[in-house]
Amino acid sequence: MLRLNYRFTHIAAYLTILHGVIYGIYKYFFQLETEYGIRPHPSQEIWQSVHILLSPLLIFAFGLLWQNHIVRMYENAIIKRKTGITLVIFMLLMIFSGYLVQVVYAVDLQKYSAYLHIAVSAVFVLAYLIHHLQGRRR
Ligand code: HEM
Ligand code: HEM
Repeated sequence: MLRLNYRFTHIAAYLTILHGVIYGIYKYFFQLETEYGIRPHPSQEIWQSVHILLSPLLIFAFGLLWQNHIVRMYENAIIKRKTGITLVIFMLLMIFSGYLVQVVYAVDLQKYSAYLHIAVSAVFVLAYLIHHLQGRRR
């Protein structure tokens, strides 16, 4: 059962990383210069919607792992502990900062919450890759 949850978590995590990165690329690197000034690329809003609609899958995976993986491993694991704890902390910060982008309207505050979200997500991605690729318990 736990293996199935791991598989679901991997799918949700790598999907979130993928659409998060694509959304970021469209938002920051593919802006268009028009006669009305700089405008977002038309595909940006599609990737924004995909990101907002599908990221909750990863939050669901986090909930799914909470009791039988996170709490249990926190108490017992001798490997993957540091990256696991990092994942928990940065997951919470990533969810908080992502939704902060959407609920603050002051332009400066929104900009800083976006930078926070991107920085936190970068650490999460790194920790997730290490957590995934580190050796398994036999
Ligand atoms: C639990 C995981 C995540 C959740 C719930 C989440 C949620 C959100 C939300 C709600 C926004 C605001 C959308 C908007 O109004 O523009 C956002 C923005 C963004 N997210 Fe995420 N996100 C998650 C993970 C990630 C990851 C892993 C990455 C990259 C690897 C990422 C990259 C971005 C980028 C680049 C933005 C645009 C920030 C900006 O406004 O400039 N997110 N995210
Ligand atoms: C205190 C926190 C954590 C600890 C101590 C921990 C520890 C571990 C350990 C020991 C394993 C290997 C289990 C085995 O192969 O039998 C593992 C695997 C795994 N962990 Fe964690 N973990 C933590 C948090 C997390 C979090 C927050 C996530 C997801 C967001 C996560 C996702 C995974 C996944 C998907 C695997 C399977 C990797 C594979 O495919 O081999 N873990 N973890």
